[in-house]
Amino acid sequence: MSSLLPKRLLPTIIYLTILLTSSSPTPSLAAPAPLPAAAEPSAPDVTKLFNGLGHIFVLNATSYSDASISDTIGCLSDTGYVVSTFSGFVSESESQSKSNCAVFSTITSYPKTINSRIGGCSFGNQAMPTNEDSKYGARQHAWSCNEDAGMVPEGERYYTINGFKHPFICNGNLNCYYDIPRAPLPAPSSSSKEDSNTKKDKVFVWQYAWGSEQMGITPGHLQVLWMWVPVGTKAE
Ligand SMILES: *[C@@H]1O[C@H](CO)[C@@H](O)[C@H](O)[C@H]1NC(C)=O
Repeated sequence: MSSLLPKRLLPTIIYLTILLTSSSPTPSLAAPAPLPAAAEPSAPDVTKLFNGLGHIFVLNATSYSDASISDTIGCLSDTGYVVSTFSGFVSESESQSKSNCAVFSTITSYPKTINSRIGGCSFGNQAMPTNEDSKYGARQHAWSCNEDAGMVPEGERYYTINGFKHPFICNGNLNCYYDIPRAPLPAPSSSSKEDSNTKKDKVFVWQYAWGSEQMGITPGHLQVLWMWVPVGTKAE
């Protein structure tokens, strides 16, 4: 096994090895191991918030324990790029009416991924660019939402963790941080969402991969969290 493999992939590889040698016809997915520090008794169970419809805000944050919505630098679009929330971000409630952000829906059944208006979202689309600036990103494709829902890699489910102060979205084996090349440009004030902002300036999201040769975020990139901001109930 190459020492160039990012450390965060090792548990997955071990898990997959177990999976491949297991005779169980319906294997369960890798369980998220360590929980954040025990939740305050009064803290809300964020796992109850992460369902139905929501925006995904992108927070410039290196620690889930002290990140909050005020660290927002953008949000995810229908195609899966980072875009500016809108000009003049004021509050969480206002963001829901004046948003530049896509509305996503959680999928509660296997494989527990996320959909946008366009389709299923994942890191599995081989047509997306890889994270070339990263020591470990050469084979990692950017997140995207695509009509082809069959591309979701094994184990890439999305969840949050009871004990987080906010519903930060993790995937796979405790991948709770993401790697983006830069903050999005501010959105022009009167414009259609996606086109104005992302055609010329596509800000991709990659998994945050690190290892002995690159201990932190890709040089020059931003380490971010994804925060689920519910927009209502899945009633339609
Ligand atoms: C992201 O956070 C870091 C550390 O707080 C800060 O230095 C940097 O300016 C921030 N970048 C953006 C685009 O907000």
